[in-house]
Amino acid sequence: LRYHVDGELVPASRATVRVDDRGFRYGDAAFETLRAYGGTIFEWDAHAARLEATCDALELTHGLSRADLLSRIDETLSANDLSDAYVRLSITRGVQPGKLTPDPDVDPTVVVYVGSLPRGGLEGNPVWDGPAALETVDTRRIPNDAVPASAKTHNYLNGILARQELESGDEALLCDGEGYAAEGATSNVFFVEDGALYTPATDGPVLPGITRRVVLECAADAGIPVEEGRYRPERLRDADRVFLTNTTWELRPVASVDGVAIERDDRVDDDPLETLSRMYDERV
Ligand code: PDD
Repeated sequence: LRYHVDGELVPASRATVRVDDRGFRYGDAAFETLRAYGGTIFEWDAHAARLEATCDALELTHGLSRADLLSRIDETLSANDLSDAYVRLSITRGVQPGKLTPDPDVDPTVVVYVGSLPRGGLEGNPVWDGPAALETVDTRRIPNDAVPASAKTHNYLNGILARQELESGDEALLCDGEGYAAEGATSNVFFVEDGALYTPATDGPVLPGITRRVVLECAADAGIPVEEGRYRPERLRDADRVFLTNTTWELRPVASVDGVAIERDDRVDDDPLETLSRMYDERV
């Protein structure tokens, strides 16, 4: 594989950043995880907009247009002959030894790395091994006025500590400071109750997932009632269906929440999760 590092395609084994890069030193960086389906980046505009919002929050000016960034991604995909792929785009505040205060004149470090990822969903095999076991953890998704939860930065310690806390589950459910469900360590969470769809609102400490947004659009198209609000983890345990979303997983069913099996009512024909998964598949 070849990755794109600072404007050049280099073999993966030589794709390195310097130890005095601020992304390494301080996590001073913005990123996006994307997917290419059939050679096209899914929801590029939405990812580009979120990246811009992250850079604004960090006051990180990189001087590259959306078109420049996309052409680096496209070049990387072509160089590796990939059409269905996982793509990660990272922009750090660059190589600046010494001090914490950034020098605005230093060039950012821009990295694109890719990996083959066959199409999931109904057409291929999902990326995940099976339905998730969701487990509420004590680590909180605390909003931070300086770095909002909506910013996708290299600082993932919140999610990492949450994952390390897992006892038997494989995805952590982080709550906000008042104990309401916020999101997974790397995913947004949804539940279905009596045919309606519920998800924590993004005015709480929740990353506004692109997959989340697409799912909400599909629900609107399908006439599935939607409510965005604040919910206790208990609501999820009692739900008819629970699922997680992110770019790589797409829609991933949840088999249990805190050890409580999520049991679908077989008397109900319509399964919103099935409907939404099918619709998502048609969009990619
Ligand atoms: N993460 N919430 C968190 C904390 C996340 O890290 C992610 C995605 C999401 C879902 O966002 P999206 O649907 O835009 O992928 C929600 C990616 C997959 C990652 O960590 O690489």
